Amino acid sequence: MRVEDCKIAKWAQELGTPLYLYDEEVLHDRYHQLRMSLHPSVDIGLSLKANNNISLAARLRRWGSCVEVASMGELHLARLAGFPPERIIFSGPGKTAEELENALEYGIYCINAESFDEVDRIAALAAERKFTAGIGIRINPNMSIVNTAIRMGGLPRQFGIDESSLTAMVKKLKCMPNISFKGIHIYSGTQILDSNQIIKAFNYTINLAKELQIEHGLNFEFIDLGGGFGVPYFSHEKELDIEHVCRETNKLVAEYLQHSPKTRFMIETGRFLLAESGAYVARVLYVKESKGEKFLILDGGMHHHVSSTFRGRTMRNNFPVRLVRSNGTPAQGNLERVNLVGPLCTPEDCLAKDIELPEANAGDYIMLLKSGAYGLSYSPLQFLGHPTPLEALVANGKLSVIRERGDVSDLLRHQYLPKDI
Ligand SMILES: Cc1ncc(COP(=O)(O)O)c(C=O)c1O
Repeated sequence: MRVEDCKIAKWAQELGTPLYLYDEEVLHDRYHQLRMSLHPSVDIGLSLKANNNISLAARLRRWGSCVEVASMGELHLARLAGFPPERIIFSGPGKTAEELENALEYGIYCINAESFDEVDRIAALAAERKFTAGIGIRINPNMSIVNTAIRMGGLPRQFGIDESSLTAMVKKLKCMPNISFKGIHIYSGTQILDSNQIIKAFNYTINLAKELQIEHGLNFEFIDLGGGFGVPYFSHEKELDIEHVCRETNKLVAEYLQHSPKTRFMIETGRFLLAESGAYVARVLYVKESKGEKFLILDGGMHHHVSSTFRGRTMRNNFPVRLVRSNGTPAQGNLERVNLVGPLCTPEDCLAKDIELPEANAGDYIMLLKSGAYGLSYSPLQFLGHPTPLEALVANGKLSVIRERGDVSDLLRHQYLPKDI
């Protein structure tokens, strides 16, 4: 987030808080860094689960990104954001018939199927429509390739089919006239900061494709390498060496293309593209002490930004935080140790614990940085019924609202007031 304090304070005052603020330039640079470093046969797929704001998605589409969706809502959003069908893939272990029908009707490039039953369902739905469905098979590898905290493969998981069942799957696919096999997909885990682990995972996937090609004569139009590119949030974490990742990926891809020049590859990424471009901005409502500790009570909290709390984390680390004075002057002054907490009635609503900040006052703003991914899209918005925060984007120095703030009706939407009580 490259925006100066005086602008943040001015905009926060104008728009109100809490809000998510995105910097287009940071997003643009991130996307282009990746695009310029990767082989042209490797597509970049925006994972909408990391951030489902349509303005951001539409920008990435314009710059050339593909998209990975995982629900009907995301599919709908991708369509509205202008992604053509051939740039959409659909993953997720529990796709409903309705979601699959929509994906087929829109003619998306590939549905990454995650079970035998799902393949049957796709084939049946395609046959009813006299369509041919493009599918990829998501694979849960025989071994854990990466050792990141959140792993999606190599363990008993709901994701993908076991690698040991691949021969049976290939036999099945060969007997299905309404299925066009596109390729395979392995997504091993998220938030990987060690470039060697990512390269190891990509190597594994490409080798598996080669084996399947040799053993079963399969033609690979598409290999979805997954990703899991991480972002350092905490002081002990180091930046992912993305240039190393891209260099080694390009070598693997170039080698594969020698035998199969038309194959396309995809990297799915949400966190790496988006995290750095966004910040969550909340206002200090009250400053109080409790039993020797200082608390800054904010007007925003875990209902908008659960990722910054310690939920589901074994390590109690804090997101990077910036204090912005209410009048936009530089945040100087005595440093003090504080806890940042939200307005919810749970001690889990703690956005940062025991951090050092210049002394803050009611009215000042707190920015949680690196919050452009898994901020709003990952948070329990319904808890306590506060409205959805506003989202705004800075582009070429100008600010625009890209999602209006919700209101009290958010809580009541689609509920019925009983008529008989
Ligand atoms: C299948 C799949 N693809 C892509 C992603 C996006 O991962 P990230 O935001 O870490 O890049 C995830 C995250 O869970 C995923 O499960």
